[in-house]
Amino acid sequence: MKIVVIGGTGLIGSKVVERLRKRGHEVVPAAPSSGVNALTGEGLDEAMEGADVLVDVSNSPSFEDQAALDFFDTSGRNLAAAEKKAGVKHHVALSVVGTGRPAFAASGYIRAKMAQEKLIRAAGVPYTIVHSTQFFEFLNGIAGDSGQGKMIHLSTGLMQPIASDDVADALTDYALGAAVNGTVEIAGPEKAPLAELVQRFLTAIGDPRKVVADPKAPYFGAVLERDTLLPGDGARLGVQNFQAWFGRSTFASRGAAA
Ligand SMILES: NC(=O)c1ccc[n+]([C@@H]2O[C@H](COP(=O)([O-])OP(=O)(O)OC[C@H]3O[C@@H](n4cnc5c(N)ncnc54)[C@H](OP(=O)(O)O)[C@@H]3O)[C@@H](O)[C@H]2O)c1
Repeated sequence: MKIVVIGGTGLIGSKVVERLRKRGHEVVPAAPSSGVNALTGEGLDEAMEGADVLVDVSNSPSFEDQAALDFFDTSGRNLAAAEKKAGVKHHVALSVVGTGRPAFAASGYIRAKMAQEKLIRAAGVPYTIVHSTQFFEFLNGIAGDSGQGKMIHLSTGLMQPIASDDVADALTDYALGAAVNGTVEIAGPEKAPLAELVQRFLTAIGDPRKVVADPKAPYFGAVLERDTLLPGDGARLGVQNFQAWFGRSTFASRGAAA
């Protein structure tokens, strides 16, 4: 099959491209750095010609509310138009577990992902929306986003992070399977409070900052309930827990053992 991976140069995209190629498919990694821009439409029709499947793992360069909404709304419309023209038979998109839950709607980024999902459902192309929990790699981003001096106030909501390798394995299987015309969930094998996981990560990399567990601390604009970030029953679970992921990650060489 010919498979176009929008965002095919990113963290998840590059791993999906590699896996699909190993399984013998013709894969086009599509991103601005490879001459395909889902926002402006540049190179989209050419990349999509003869494609059977489109996997969208692109991300907005900015997480600011309006910028993220503009990104997912405009790119979503461009992708729908291009894939209909090319006769794409399956649209696979990566989104976030909890998108659609009321507590999460206070986050502008999540509202942008909701807009992306709405366009996919309305496009008329068979689809699979993959809701993932936070990537272990993103713990660094959460800490970076929340630092104030040496104390970081973070939510006590539970999270069940997943390794990017497990995300890529799942997306590869969904891309090669039949469209479910709905949402599936993927998550890591273990859950713990967000504040505790970020503290564990900071300690592992030797970062001296301390996390203050604070039930009211917003997470990307949203005050989380205990289970806002958790998948429901029946989610596909990754195999790597924190320790397994950390040991293989590029962070391992920077700090003490997990
Ligand atoms: N982080 C998490 O914990 C988490 C959890 C659940 C779901 N997700 C979802 O996972 C997805 C992928 O995340 P990631 O961390 O792999 O992203 P990433 O590493 O930041 O990669 C983003 C990709 O999007 C591409 N891109 C940017 N602007 C584009 C445009 N105008 N047209 C086409 N491609 C464009 C980038 O291309 P260049 O290389 O050219 O810049 C890059 O390939 C996101 O949609 C996110 O919502 C993330």
